[in-house]
Parts: sequence; structure tokens; C-alpha cells
Amino acid sequence: MGAYLVTGAGSGIGALVARALADRGDELHLLARSATRADELAAAYDGAAVLVADLADPDSLAGLSVPARLDGVVHSAGVVDVAALDATGAASLRATVDVNLLAPMLLTRQVLEAVRAARGTHVFVNSGSGLRAKAGWASYNASKFGLRGFADALRQEEGDHGVRVTSVFPGRVATPMQERVHAAEGKDYDASAWIRPETVAAEVLRVLDLGRDATIPEVVVSPA
Ligand SMILES: NC(=O)c1ccc[n+]([C@@H]2O[C@H](COP(=O)([O-])OP(=O)(O)OC[C@H]3O[C@@H](n4cnc5c(N)ncnc54)[C@H](OP(=O)(O)O)[C@@H]3O)[C@@H](O)[C@H]2O)c1
Repeated sequence: MGAYLVTGAGSGIGALVARALADRGDELHLLARSATRADELAAAYDGAAVLVADLADPDSLAGLSVPARLDGVVHSAGVVDVAALDATGAASLRATVDVNLLAPMLLTRQVLEAVRAARGTHVFVNSGSGLRAKAGWASYNASKFGLRGFADALRQEEGDHGVRVTSVFPGRVATPMQERVHAAEGKDYDASAWIRPETVAAEVLRVLDLGRDATIPEVVVSPA
């Protein structure tokens, strides 16, 4: 049995990662954005420890009490605001960078020792938007390109501690986020056209469970 911290466990990819870990008996630490969300997660995951921090307010991570040992940390929380820059307010730009980039960086710093103690794995759920930029996606692109760079540097820093770092780059995944993206793009939504979140969650688990002889720096998952 391992100990894992998961952000974004209330929805989409993070929820499926948390469910898979819980079903096999792993120790779960779930990060929720609010006390209400924390109550919902505590009710859904018997025995899980629930931490509360709004990632749009990265300072709220400062007081977080993290476990002494973590086999893995899965950063799945994320937001996207699809709009041209001239239609995007400063608050939205800041929120996207705070949730998708600054908060994972600060949280990683807080769990460094815990992950080193277990020779564990940091998994960042990035995006195809962390590899390729597209008009209308500037803030999301910036946050995810940044997250990729952070993960690449972290991998070099933590390797000597036996710690592995993986970025997962999915294309469009059929989650509530993707429904919202379609609405913003003014497109009809057909979940069956996109990657199932279960597929991405299975890739995350494959990374977490990898034998000690190897590392998977990057996983690219595209719709078939
Ligand atoms: N869906 C896609 O097409 C797609 C493609 C590539 C990459 N991704 C990436 O995959 C990850 C998971 O996305 P998803 O599709 O599973 O999205 P989702 O269903 O919208 O879930 C996002 C999760 O992030 C949490 N979150 C958002 N803002 C937060 C905040 N301020 N504080 C704490 N938690 C916050 C949400 O919390 P609540 O439960 O409280 O709302 C939710 O649990 C994201 O990093 C996303 O960028 C998604």
C-alpha cells in the first residue's frame, strides 16, 4: 500500500485517479478547494485525509500540513479560460497561472521531503497545450508550457534523491472541463469523440506503479 496526494480529485481525471487508488487500498490525501468540497470528498473516500486549499489563492498552501512520506503526488487540478487575450481580464490571467502553475510549484516545494522519503513520483497532468500553442489559448498555453519547464527542471534536481518526475500531456479528454471548453468555443459537445478520462487515469497509475529500474519522463495521450 502506498500513500498518495491528489489535487483535483473532485472531478474528471483526478477523480478517476483517486478512485482507482482508493479501490486498491492506498492511503489517500486529497486536496479540496473549499470546506464544502472537502466534506464531499471525505464522504466519498472513507479514511482519506482531506486538505483544504484554494489553488487560485496559492498563499493558502502555506499552512497546509502534509504527511511525512508520499509515494506519489498527482497534480490534476486545473482551469482553462478559452478566449483571445483582448477578451481576457487580468483576474482570469492571474487565476489560470495561479492554479495551473504557481500552486503546483508551491505544493511541490512543500512535499519535496515527503516524496524523497519514499523515493516517490511527482506526476503533473499537463496538456497538449503545454506542447503546442494556439490562438485563443494564450493563458492556458503559458501556464502549461511553464508547468512543463518546471517539471523538467525538477526531474534533474530530484533524480539524485531517487525521485521521478512525469508530465502527462493529454489531448482533449471527455470531462466537465472539456464540456465547458466546447461551450466557450460555441461547439456541440460529443463526449465519445474524445479520450476517456479513465484512459488518462490508467496512464497516471502506470507511471506511479513503474518498477524502480526505469522512469517515464513524459506521456503523450492523443484521441484515436
Ligand atoms: N479535459 C481535457 O480535455 C484536458 C486535456 C488536457 C489536459 N487537461 C488537464 O487535466 C487536468 C484535469 O482536468 P479535468 O479535465 O479533469 O478537469 P475538471 O473535470 O474540470 O476537474 C478539475 C479539477 O480541478 C480542481 N480545481 C480547479 N480550480 C481549483 C482551485 N482553485 N483549487 C483547488 N482545486 C481546483 C476542480 O475542483 P472542484 O472539484 O472543486 O471544481 C476539479 O476537481 C487539468 O490540469 C487540465 O488542465 C484536461
